[in-house]
Amino acid sequence: MIKIGLLGLGTVGSGVFSILEKHAETIKRKVGTDLKIEKVLVKDKDKQRDLDFDDQILTDDIDEIINNKDIDLLVELIGGENPAYNYIIAALNSGKSVVTANKLVIAKYEQEIMGLAREKGVQINYEGSVAGGIPVIRPLKESFAANKIERLYGILNGTTNYILTKMTNEEREFDEVLAEAQSLGYAERDPHSDISGADAAYKISILSSIAFETSIDLNGVYVEGIEGIELEDIKLAEELGYVIKLLAIAKYHQDGLDVRVHPAFISKEHPLALVNDVYNAIYLHGDAVGDVMSYGQGAGRMPTASAVVADIMQAARDIYYQRPEVDNLDSIYNHDLVNISQVENSFYLRLQVKDKPGVLAQITKIFGENQVSLASVIQKHRLSEIVPIVLVTHQVKEENINKSLTAIKGLDDVISIKNLIRVEEL
Ligand SMILES: NC(=O)c1ccc[n+]([C@@H]2O[C@H](COP(=O)([O-])OP(=O)(O)OC[C@H]3O[C@@H](n4cnc5c(N)ncnc54)[C@H](OP(=O)(O)O)[C@@H]3O)[C@@H](O)[C@H]2O)c1
Repeated sequence: MIKIGLLGLGTVGSGVFSILEKHAETIKRKVGTDLKIEKVLVKDKDKQRDLDFDDQILTDDIDEIINNKDIDLLVELIGGENPAYNYIIAALNSGKSVVTANKLVIAKYEQEIMGLAREKGVQINYEGSVAGGIPVIRPLKESFAANKIERLYGILNGTTNYILTKMTNEEREFDEVLAEAQSLGYAERDPHSDISGADAAYKISILSSIAFETSIDLNGVYVEGIEGIELEDIKLAEELGYVIKLLAIAKYHQDGLDVRVHPAFISKEHPLALVNDVYNAIYLHGDAVGDVMSYGQGAGRMPTASAVVADIMQAARDIYYQRPEVDNLDSIYNHDLVNISQVENSFYLRLQVKDKPGVLAQITKIFGENQVSLASVIQKHRLSEIVPIVLVTHQVKEENINKSLTAIKGLDDVISIKNLIRVEEL
């Protein structure tokens, strides 16, 4: 029998508890032995819970798990940085394998945690930390192991994808849809981590470090959220043949890795454009396998618990059969991250200008001086003194766009730059 210490009995923890009970027989057959939840750490032992269990298994003292020699496996599902990080380190130090779904801790401390697990000869599995129920970490480590991964795109945050989908399909503004997402429980009361792109940045950082066998400095990952996207941008994207998605991107270049999160125009024809609502997807290109896409529920009680229980089963099997940890994936490369100013993209730019002759000519002159060439221009005539101009550039380095924008902002007839969104040619 393998004994488990479960930290957290919230959304995911209760899902894990249920699956381990419901599928106990199948799990035993597949692992080779019984799995038993020996102790469950919670914050509030007196909280009313919908699960059926002996109250004796609940504790609010981590030492009852860390110091319990009978517990082989710690499953961390409390979330946040601390004490989760400290508990993971303490468990590894005491020779226990660890399963977690904590993207923040893994993204920040991946190398330290992997190194410690290797040193102690135990496992650390974290499939649930990225894209919930969609298998992506193990496929990257195992199924695509024969490939050089060249690029990887993800829609990795369900909240932002839900908001952008509703804005697109129902022509509603950002604030209204965010409020609805919060009332439906798709967005947190404090949605900052999702909306700002931080959540997706943790996840693409984890995927990049595996795909490119390197250590990723989170601070070097360019992150931009969806707060600035207006309904007007969504409608113009549609008119130009695109949809707007919050994309997490990781690309291999000779001179470094291009890892970033930002809203992007993607062709309406691309499979990722069809990933709607709270669904997530990963689209990658390996030199042998070509293009592969995985799609599914990127969060939620049971989808995430599905990934966590599979991780538990793998760790339990290896403990039971006394197989040493065989994850030889180390951060053997020292790839630098490419600064966003050096990344090439096409850009969509929406400006408000005075309705006067010659304004467009002044703008295109500035672009010409900065080697920015235009792919399309939409000038809307409205019965107003201020009119929008929408431009789409050809591929150009971001620093050239930035120089152009500084000069354009200085023009007397330019009222404001409403939005600049990258166009990703997938
Ligand atoms: N929810 C999802 O859809 C999802 C998807 C993918 C990954 N994840 C990750 O899974 C992890 C868990 O998320 P969740 O949504 O299940 O969280 P949750 O619903 O907030 O549950 C957290 C649980 O941890 C316990 N807890 C919190 N802080 C604690 C502390 N300091 N000491 C002891 N117990 C503590 C809570 O105890 P009480 O019950 O007593 O309050 C609760 O049972 C996070 O890392 C999250 O990022 C979640």
